[in-house]
Amino acid sequence: MTLKGRVLSVASECVPLVKTGGLADVVGALPGALAPLGWEMRVLMPAYRALRARTADWAEVWREEGLWGGEGRVLLGRVEGLEVMLLDAPHLYDREGGPYAGPGGDWWDNAQRFAALSWVAAKIARVGTTDGWRPDVLHVHDWQAGLAPAYLAYGGSEGVGSVLTIHNIAFQGWAAASQLLDLRLPADQFYPGALEYYGGLSSLKAGLITCDRITTVSPTYAAELMRPEFGMGLQGVIATRASVVSGILNGVDTGVWSPEAEPVPYSAAAMQGKAANRAALCAEFGLEVPGPLAIIVSRLTDQKGIDLVPEVLPEFIEGGGGLVVLGSGDPKLEAAMRDLAARYPGRVGLRIGYDEAMSHRIFSGGDAVLVPSRFEPCGLTQMYGLRYGCLPVVAAVGGLADTVIHANPAALSAGVATGITFHPTDATAFATALRQLLALHAEPKLWSHVQRNAMKQDVSWASSAAEYAALYEGLLA
Ligand code: ADP
Ligand code: GLC
Repeated sequence: MTLKGRVLSVASECVPLVKTGGLADVVGALPGALAPLGWEMRVLMPAYRALRARTADWAEVWREEGLWGGEGRVLLGRVEGLEVMLLDAPHLYDREGGPYAGPGGDWWDNAQRFAALSWVAAKIARVGTTDGWRPDVLHVHDWQAGLAPAYLAYGGSEGVGSVLTIHNIAFQGWAAASQLLDLRLPADQFYPGALEYYGGLSSLKAGLITCDRITTVSPTYAAELMRPEFGMGLQGVIATRASVVSGILNGVDTGVWSPEAEPVPYSAAAMQGKAANRAALCAEFGLEVPGPLAIIVSRLTDQKGIDLVPEVLPEFIEGGGGLVVLGSGDPKLEAAMRDLAARYPGRVGLRIGYDEAMSHRIFSGGDAVLVPSRFEPCGLTQMYGLRYGCLPVVAAVGGLADTVIHANPAALSAGVATGITFHPTDATAFATALRQLLALHAEPKLWSHVQRNAMKQDVSWASSAAEYAALYEGLLA
């Protein structure tokens, strides 16, 4: 394959190095998906404490003094086929805890920590690394890298195009106006039509007004973002740039998420393995469930609508259903899930925590995955559900609306339904969807038809990678 161009991808997390959510999956998957299309991508991210040990024999490809109180070095290495550049700036990143927070909560200097990442990204975009690698396109993800297109634009872009992808607009990288100069932003750009954001600053807004292209991770979310219900204050900014906004659905790593590759394999043509996995899952959680076994694998947050589960579950359990939950997050929601597990022993299984291997067992054994999100830029678990014949029951928002075909009478008679969607995200609509799930499950022929449809869906990166490639190509011209 001839080389079409080089892309510098900048983010705060990336599988297999650090993950708190789907952002990391996407950042980790894009280089492999784009390589066959002729696009060479390197990922730049911070060298958090847990990552520093890996870099012992990595090559230094950038060094910069005066990076908000210390020196930064960019180290280049390969991790599971990925070309990764870690920004090693111990004064900013060598700390106990996660990427954004330590034992005492969010880091006080997050604005500076990610400004440093963005600053180095823009410099590398402009002049290339010391090993002679120079990108044609700068592709940044979420607020943590939002200042990179701004630094690139304000310092002279040297022909390098920039793309900003919004994975979650709930996080906007807010900083006080008094930090303008410390964040190395031009004072004459501090007005509402430019950097000012409700009297302060937002790294995300800075990126949105200065990048060449804005993408988000589904077509529906791209449209939703221009509306006050979903834009979270940035709807006007995004609407003014509508002509450069597009939605490109995330894909799924179909090598990792494949029922054929599970310890007890199955496929649309041979479903016996699924029954064995269901039995094993029930045994693991001590469950006996006559009806559909629903599952949730999720961050437990307000975004995900988890607070609605206790409201709708009693009727579902009474109808014969069961539930397995794997997740962690908001202590109130964790407590609510514990209450459910205590109230319905034998019907509700719970594991508070993060467990990749268990999540595979849960999708392999589950009948339906519940995703009652209030907003969902794309969502990955409904796509795992499709692959695993674990039918998605989802709120019809964002990427959930774009990936699941609701089993309404028309879709059922056309033979194209892949799951159940509901709207709006409230307990009434969610309860109706669960009633429909019980009814569908009670008709084995129809159920297995929908299940097979679901498993046939293409949720791979193939078509989305082609869309990113086309976007980059447009920036070369
Ligand atoms: P978000 O990024 O908003 O959390 P996504 O659906 O895009 O939502 O991605 C979530 C990713 O994190 C999926 O790969 C999902 O399987 C994984 N995940 C979430 N919670 C857990 C958990 N407790 N254990 C294992 N995997 C989890
Ligand atoms: C965000 C969104 C999720 C999306 C993921 C990857 O975390 O909440 O919907 O799938 O990013 O793009």
